[in-house]
Amino acid sequence: MSIIEKAANKLVHTEPVLGQSDTAAIPTMEKTASRIEEAMQRERSHAAPISEQAAVAARPDSDTAATSSMLVEIDLKRLAHMGCVTPDAERSQIAEEFRLIKRPLLANAFGQGGSAVKNGNLIMVTSSLPGEGKSFCSINLAISIATEMERTVLLVDADVARPRLPEYLGVRVGKGLLDVLRDESLALSDILLRTNIPKLSLLPAGRSDRHGTELLASSAMTRLISDLANRYPDRVIIFDSPPLLSTSEASVLATHMGQIVMVVEAERTSQEALKEALSQIESCEVIGMVLNKATSVLGNDNYYGYYGSYGK
Ligand SMILES: Nc1ncnc2c1ncn2[C@@H]1O[C@H](COP(=O)(O)OP(=O)(O)O)[C@@H](O)[C@H]1O
Ligand SMILES: [Mg+2]
Repeated sequence: MSIIEKAANKLVHTEPVLGQSDTAAIPTMEKTASRIEEAMQRERSHAAPISEQAAVAARPDSDTAATSSMLVEIDLKRLAHMGCVTPDAERSQIAEEFRLIKRPLLANAFGQGGSAVKNGNLIMVTSSLPGEGKSFCSINLAISIATEMERTVLLVDADVARPRLPEYLGVRVGKGLLDVLRDESLALSDILLRTNIPKLSLLPAGRSDRHGTELLASSAMTRLISDLANRYPDRVIIFDSPPLLSTSEASVLATHMGQIVMVVEAERTSQEALKEALSQIESCEVIGMVLNKATSVLGNDNYYGYYGSYGK
């Protein structure tokens, strides 16, 4: 049986939830894209520099994923327009889909009685190619876990060549991952950002240059990941990662992860690309698949997803 067949055999189908809140009816790709663009333009004209945003003062808080000095305000309205999970729309279709996606991930990360996967709290969200929905899924997964479970989450913007989290979340960011990797005298706690979702923190990508992506495969990155894993063993750390077929560093990053979520774009990701991508992350014990941007067979405009995992 092929690697794809094995994964596909265990796919779980989530039904669209219709007639719920506004965010339940997720618009078509085109509509969504134009709404995001509109929102971004609004943001560009209104956003205050990070230093002017609220709560700059240090407020150590042991209940957050980071004891950091900076708080950023995630634009929850923008996320709702994008069709994302938001804390106040618990019954939306997207929230229900990500409940199904996170359940096995959390069971693997924190399972009782020896069922937990090694480093299961380190979760990489990746795909074959750009644009398949890694950042979208990373954000939804992070918010879903942070708002509904008693778990703190650190969302890492590790697609350092194409970091999109600040745009999607509507936040301005400064230093980040690449800066810590270049200068190990920088304290991680000074770089991590707390957010207005109390259990969610953010590690931005940082200042990029031509060699940015190479740093993901560096020994500094290995040290940083083991530092994160040791410091926050009971927290979920989600890495929004580069596409596996674009950069070899993505598969090096994968070797440090306990679990991988492979995003597959419906009607776009080819079998060959998926097969090639899966072959690059064979070392990871647990790989889940999300079929993203699938259009309902009922012919309406809703998206719904599938999830399956194999390996463990
Ligand atoms: N399930 C979805 N429903 C609606 N829009 C989506 C969905 N998944 C991704 N998108 C949109 O598709 C575009 C590419 O997604 P993105 O997450 O940035 O891809 P990647 O991170 O893989 O490059 C973005 O505009 C994003 O908002
Ligand atoms: Mg992305």
